[in-house]
Amino acid sequence: MDNAELIASVLKDWWYYSVELAPGVMARGVDTPQTPMLPRMMLRNCNLRGMDCLDIGSMEGLIPTLMCRQGARKVLATDAIPHCQKKMDVLRQVYGVNFDFQQVGLLYDLSAKLKDHGGFDFINLSGVLYHVYSPLHVLAGIRPLLKKGGLMVVSTNVMRREGYSLEFNNAGKLQTETNTFWYHSVPMLEYLLRYFNLVPLDFLYLPHSPVNPHNYVPGQDSGYMSVVCRAVDEATPNYPDPWAARTHIASWEYLALCNREMMNGQPVSSISYRGDHDRANASTDTTGITLMDHIMDPARIVASVDDSRNSQFLHLSDMY
Ligand SMILES: C[S@@+](CC[C@H](N)C(=O)[O-])C[C@H]1O[C@@H](n2cnc3c(N)ncnc32)[C@H](O)[C@@H]1O
Repeated sequence: MDNAELIASVLKDWWYYSVELAPGVMARGVDTPQTPMLPRMMLRNCNLRGMDCLDIGSMEGLIPTLMCRQGARKVLATDAIPHCQKKMDVLRQVYGVNFDFQQVGLLYDLSAKLKDHGGFDFINLSGVLYHVYSPLHVLAGIRPLLKKGGLMVVSTNVMRREGYSLEFNNAGKLQTETNTFWYHSVPMLEYLLRYFNLVPLDFLYLPHSPVNPHNYVPGQDSGYMSVVCRAVDEATPNYPDPWAARTHIASWEYLALCNREMMNGQPVSSISYRGDHDRANASTDTTGITLMDHIMDPARIVASVDDSRNSQFLHLSDMY
C-alpha cells in the first residue's frame, strides 16, 4: 500500500490522539486542542538523545513517536492489547520513526514480562495508574526496569488534599469511565514514588474543571498530575524513612513483587533533566521536591494550551 492508501485505511477509525497523517489531513482524537497533555510537556525536559526508552500504555504511539524524534536510541511501546496496532503502524510510517511494540497484558509484573529488554534510561507511566486495581503492584513491577539514576514520568489523577489516601471511584462518582478506580491524594502519590526509590524532581498540575465535564465533579478538588522522578539507589540509608526501608528487606510483598536483583544490577544511566528543578541530579541525592508545597505555584498549573505541542494533537512538523 502506498502512503495515501495507508492513511485512507485508518483515517475514519476511532483515534485517542489527534494526528496529522498528511499535510492538513487530521485524524480526530477524543480530546480538544485546548486540553493540555502534561506528560508530553514533561518529556521534553528529559534529554532522550541516545537513551533507551519505555512507554507504558501507548495507544497509537504519540509518546513513542516523540521519543524517537528526540533522538532516543531505542524505544519500546507497550499496551495491554494491540488495539491500536494498525493506526500505530501508519503513524510509524508517516512520521518516519522506528520503535518496537510489545503486548503486555495487565500492567502487573512488567519486570518479568519485559526482562529481555534490559534496563531503560527513561520510562513513561502516564494515564494508567488510575486504571489498575493495585497501583503499588504496578510500580513494584516497573521500577526494576529503570537504570540507576534513570528518569521516570508518572502521571495520574490526584486529589489535592493532605494525608495519605486513595479515593475510590465508587459508583463512578469521580468519573463514569468504566476503567477508572483510584485517585491518589498528592502526598500519597509522592510517598509511593519515594517508597519505590523515585525522587520527584519536577511536576505539572492540571486542575479538573468544567471545561472537561467527564472528570469534573463540583466540590471535588481533583486534577491530573505529571511528575518526573529520578531513580535513587535502594541502598540509600533509611530512604524514604526507616520504616519504609525496613519493609524493603522484610515485607513479603516487596520481596516478591519488586525484583531487587534486577533493580540493583541495573547500569548507571547518563540521562539528564533540563528543567529548572533538577536538584536531585545525582542518584544519591534524595531531596527532590515536596509536591504539596508547590502545587499552587502558577508556573506548575497548566489550565489551557497556548501551543498545540502541549496538547494531544500531533503534527507532522512536531519534534517534541
Ligand atoms: C488513558 S490511556 C493513556 C495513554 C498514554 N499513556 C497517555 O498518557 O497519553 C490508557 C492506556 O492504558 C491502557 N489500559 C487501560 N486500562 C488498562 C489496564 N487495566 N491494564 C493495562 N492497560 C490498561 C490502555 O490500553 C491505554 O493504552
